[in-house]
Amino acid sequence: MEKILVIDFGSQYTQLIARRLRELSVYSEVCPWDEIPDLSEVKGFILSGGPESSNIEGNPSIDQHIFDTKKPILGICYGMQVLAYQEEGRIINEGKREFGYAKIDIKQDSILFKNLDKSSDVWMSHGDKVESLPDGYKITAVSNNSPVAAYENIVKKYFGLQFHPEVTHTESGITIIKNFLEICDIKQNWSSYDILQQINALIKTEVKDEEVLLALSGGVDSTVLAAVLHKSLGNKLTCVMVDHGLLRKDEALNVVNNLKEKIGLSVNLVNAQDTFLSKLKGIKDPEVKRKIIGNTFIEVFESESKKLNDINWLAQGTIYPDVIESAGNSKTKAKVIKSHHNVGGLPERMQLKLLEPFRMLFKDEVRKLGKTIGLPTEIVERHPFPGPGLGIRIIGEVNKDRLDKLREADHIFLSELKKQNLYYSASQAYAFYLPVKSVGVVGDNRIYADVIGLRSVNTTDFMTARATALPHNFVEYVSTRIVNEIDGISRVVYDITSKPPATIEWE
Ligand code: XMP
Repeated sequence: MEKILVIDFGSQYTQLIARRLRELSVYSEVCPWDEIPDLSEVKGFILSGGPESSNIEGNPSIDQHIFDTKKPILGICYGMQVLAYQEEGRIINEGKREFGYAKIDIKQDSILFKNLDKSSDVWMSHGDKVESLPDGYKITAVSNNSPVAAYENIVKKYFGLQFHPEVTHTESGITIIKNFLEICDIKQNWSSYDILQQINALIKTEVKDEEVLLALSGGVDSTVLAAVLHKSLGNKLTCVMVDHGLLRKDEALNVVNNLKEKIGLSVNLVNAQDTFLSKLKGIKDPEVKRKIIGNTFIEVFESESKKLNDINWLAQGTIYPDVIESAGNSKTKAKVIKSHHNVGGLPERMQLKLLEPFRMLFKDEVRKLGKTIGLPTEIVERHPFPGPGLGIRIIGEVNKDRLDKLREADHIFLSELKKQNLYYSASQAYAFYLPVKSVGVVGDNRIYADVIGLRSVNTTDFMTARATALPHNFVEYVSTRIVNEIDGISRVVYDITSKPPATIEWE
């Protein structure tokens, strides 16, 4: 498969580069700078930014094999500096950082800047800069602080940008990336249909007619995976859903019924609510809660699967951001797998082969795939829901009483969002439970009762997010319903904090 290879030098935006390419229907992969794969199908390279200085011995560098391909290279930020450095240019660090918006003036009619205005707003985030260019290179853009805001070597088709075209703040970022794709002469035809064909081919050659087990959470990834596998494996696929009691109102049943009705897939639903609740008794620390929920999930799932015969494969809905995040590399800081992956450890323990057909896909690609195979919007456009569920949306100890109240409040909030056509314009919305005694007046009496919080955010990558600007009368209406309909709740608050500094979840 023709691709653009994104070389990761440790930038927080590396994933975003790959996503932008996929959005432009071009297949792209990310690899750490020191683990270069086979390059035979690579049509061009994008070098990411990174936290290091390129002119220090031993720091991340561009592998010689990349130069040997003689394919186009686009260096971004650190990638731009290290490319200039390895081509014998000079990099300096004046101890000043340039961060945020900058205006660039485009000096030349570079093919990389085709269809761009002469002046453009871009997003900068760097300390070092290119002081002098190697032979054969020329400056193509300048900014106030960067005399070399962009460069090119037109013969070699090497380009450098001091700013970040992959972030949405850079006005013409997408146009620049499109221009680079044209220079690479790569077709923009990567589609859901190709993805499906690739997955089906993988299943045919790898799985053949062996039995596959899938842990279904009800989230988008595992549900779309269940549907894709069901279509090609039929009754060789067994789906198990563990109800840990931390799901939203009627969620387990809705998922099971939906899959049965929409695609004829039967799911084994395991009720393990009491097991989870008793293990969580008295536990307040969020990370301990996550560990208990993750480990208990593995125990329950393992014991359920022992009841099944001849299973060879465990299918997981791992997606590309998880793969990139857990890869890391030797120089650019170890990035550990998030404790999010509550089925992490399962394949080794159960001695099953691991099937991860979505490991090269981004979430929006999984969603498109779901639509391609005919899943309804209410499944493919669901908001994400964390593996530990309501367990991390009740601050402090989790118990049945709090869970029931939270489930009810969350249901009121989400069903009103849907009713008033606001659900799909938010990226993730939920209610959380604050066990702080807050005063209220009911009739003539003062009560001291707990608080429900509402959070709704908009984000493209879940790494940064802003609170959704929900209409005031809407939140007021939801608040009134919650305090009137749920005993033991004295007040409702709406969280308007951005991420960063806050996170999306409260724990
Ligand atoms: P934060 O709170 O880190 O959330 O801003 C970013 C996204 O990750 C989800 N999240 C989790 N998902 N297990 C999961 O499966 C977890 O422990 C977990 N913690 C956060 C969160 O819902 C949001 O979509």
